Amino acid sequence: MSSEPPVRVEHLCKEFGPVKALSDISFEAAGGEILGLLGPNGAGKTTLLHILLGLTTPTSGSAQIMGLDLATQREEILTRVNFSSAYTALPHNLTVRENLTVFAYLYEAREPRRKVQQLLEAFEIADLADRLTGRLSSGQLTRVNLCKSLINDPLVLLLDEPTASLDPDVADKVRRLLTKIRADRGLTVLYTSHNMREVEEVCDRVLFIHRGKVHAEGTPGALLDRFQSDCLEDVFLALTRDGSLYEDGSR
Ligand SMILES: Nc1ncnc2c1ncn2[C@@H]1O[C@H](COP(=O)(O)OP(=O)(O)OP(=O)(O)O)[C@@H](O)[C@H]1O
Ligand SMILES: [Mg+2]
Repeated sequence: MSSEPPVRVEHLCKEFGPVKALSDISFEAAGGEILGLLGPNGAGKTTLLHILLGLTTPTSGSAQIMGLDLATQREEILTRVNFSSAYTALPHNLTVRENLTVFAYLYEAREPRRKVQQLLEAFEIADLADRLTGRLSSGQLTRVNLCKSLINDPLVLLLDEPTASLDPDVADKVRRLLTKIRADRGLTVLYTSHNMREVEEVCDRVLFIHRGKVHAEGTPGALLDRFQSDCLEDVFLALTRDGSLYEDGSR
């Protein structure tokens, strides 16, 4: 099992009625890789992450995490995966510590209370531990969600716009923390963001998704070379403007 890539997606399609959210997406993410999923609003990024979490069933195609098949071994997979999204709702009437402690027990963390305290400190929100979760600012809530996402020491972490509501200082700290965790224990991360500078800084490799298809992929440096651009934002615009400009320049 160890020779399997942490994430393997093959010919994944998802239709919501007439909407083709994903059309034949295939890729792999290697151990310790931070893979950026970029693309315009509605491209299919969140749908892809939801499929990898087993929240959405694909119309066709398959996905494996750590060599386990999502369709048949979902429960086993979910012990090794975690996620954070700007839009995840945690119970409002529990304190931050209570919320995280519930998750620590659900995931059967070895020392639940210690783990919660350690994460609160890592994300610099120990002072919020006894506040009601429903009363937090969006950036504070984002940090609680990030704590939650690491509570089971996941091998694969799915982050949907993890820094969207963070101030620049905290966003920078979160990026450093994630790259440190990756370096410490080879965590594989799938990372969506609309912040192109952040993606250039954090991601080892990028997939550009547009209308449910992968339109380009490569390291940030290789993509800049290929599109003769100075920044990923220009690559993004070249790939998405008019909706049909392909990697080879054809329309
Ligand atoms: N539950 C659903 N029912 C119907 N359509 C859906 C559903 N979820 C997503 N879609 C549609 O699938 C497409 C892909 O949506 P998705 O949320 O994956 O995009 P995204 O790339 O995450 O966009 P954004 O950058 O805005 O977050 C969109 O057209 C969206 O309207
Ligand atoms: Mg999304």
